[in-house]
Amino acid sequence: MAEIIGSKDVYLIIKQTLSMVNQDIMTHGEITGYILAKMLECENTYTKQEIADYAMIAVLHDLGLFNRKHEVSMFELENTDVWAHSIYGYLFLKHLSPLGDMAEIILYHHLDYELYGRIKSKYMKVISYLNLADKMDTFMHARQWQMEREYFQKYRDIKFSGQALDWFYKTDAKYKILEKLSDGSYRMELMQILSERTFSNEYKKRYLELLIYTIDFRSEHTVDHTMATTTFAHEIGRCMRLSGYDQQNLYYGALLHDLGKLAIPVEILEAPRKLTDEEMRVMRMHVEITQDILEGIVSKEIYEIAIAHHEKIDGSGYPRGLKGDQLSITQRILAVADILSALYGKRSYKDSYDSEVIRKLIEKLEQEGKICPKVSGYVLRNWSEIIKNFDEEHKRRMATYLMIKEQYALIYEQFKNLK
Ligand SMILES: [Fe+2]
Ligand SMILES: [Fe+2]
Ligand SMILES: [Fe+2]
Repeated sequence: MAEIIGSKDVYLIIKQTLSMVNQDIMTHGEITGYILAKMLECENTYTKQEIADYAMIAVLHDLGLFNRKHEVSMFELENTDVWAHSIYGYLFLKHLSPLGDMAEIILYHHLDYELYGRIKSKYMKVISYLNLADKMDTFMHARQWQMEREYFQKYRDIKFSGQALDWFYKTDAKYKILEKLSDGSYRMELMQILSERTFSNEYKKRYLELLIYTIDFRSEHTVDHTMATTTFAHEIGRCMRLSGYDQQNLYYGALLHDLGKLAIPVEILEAPRKLTDEEMRVMRMHVEITQDILEGIVSKEIYEIAIAHHEKIDGSGYPRGLKGDQLSITQRILAVADILSALYGKRSYKDSYDSEVIRKLIEKLEQEGKICPKVSGYVLRNWSEIIKNFDEEHKRRMATYLMIKEQYALIYEQFKNLK
């Protein structure tokens, strides 16, 4: 079976999406990733695959800055509380990405070199390189690509490893890093470096789920919406015996369907009341934003599934007002899964409804011609099984979520005074 979604596309989706949340942080990640990758390449002891993984870690090293409710400038964030985002980034990558224990590298990216004696890690060298690469960009960024040699000499072996600095100079002499950064050609090269890694399906899923969690963590109330929708879609697809190919498309379509919400203000997402017309107009824009992110990256099938989740069988949905025949079975399933997730999940303006109420609402939507009767028929007939499987998945996800919050508090206590 042909690849449903390419390895390179996974990176492109992450990049496009995070750029939309905060372009500065994404660019900073790419530059840092490029510098680190070249420094490792210069060592001649790492495989291309290893370099690609480390580069990915570096690209995502400030991931913990993305789950903010309100936008603040990167430099402000980077300097006020370095531990908060270092710990979040570490925990997200550790528990929600395929990179596992390599995530430790992120935890220490702001640790001053003089304190290295206080920690233990098998990645010390990469940690010291990442720390330097991060500072390189921060300083060159502020100074328009002019190396601040004086600053770097002054703080060598204090703020960062002197060995790492010397290695950077050596790498720059060999690969012309600074030149490539200033003419922008590093972007293509970074893409090349990252595509040395081909992901298994499992890896791709985990990377994209990582992205979803990062965005959904912005709001406690929506934290599980996307994953809940994905689970409901999968359950319905299973009951309806969709082909493996359709199930895969449905999974990705469901996973990516609300990406555009990241551009919607949290005040609107979390409004504890019915939205005003103007707020509703803004809220509806999330579909167009999802379109912008996914267009040209994912297959037509996945794209069409993702962007049709608010269409209704009778043509009263948005953004295109598609009708019955124009909607494929996978599109119809996602529309119902999205409704189920909204009704069954806990929302800011209400607690979740009980089963009987939800069943009645589904029946009503079916009678009004809003949702596909074939899909809702399957849902109603298999209700208890769907809910049972859903609850199990949901419990597992919530346990991870709570564990991350707990570990965050513990690690923060441990490190907050280390500066
Ligand atoms: Fe940082
Ligand atoms: Fe950084
Ligand atoms: Fe939506």
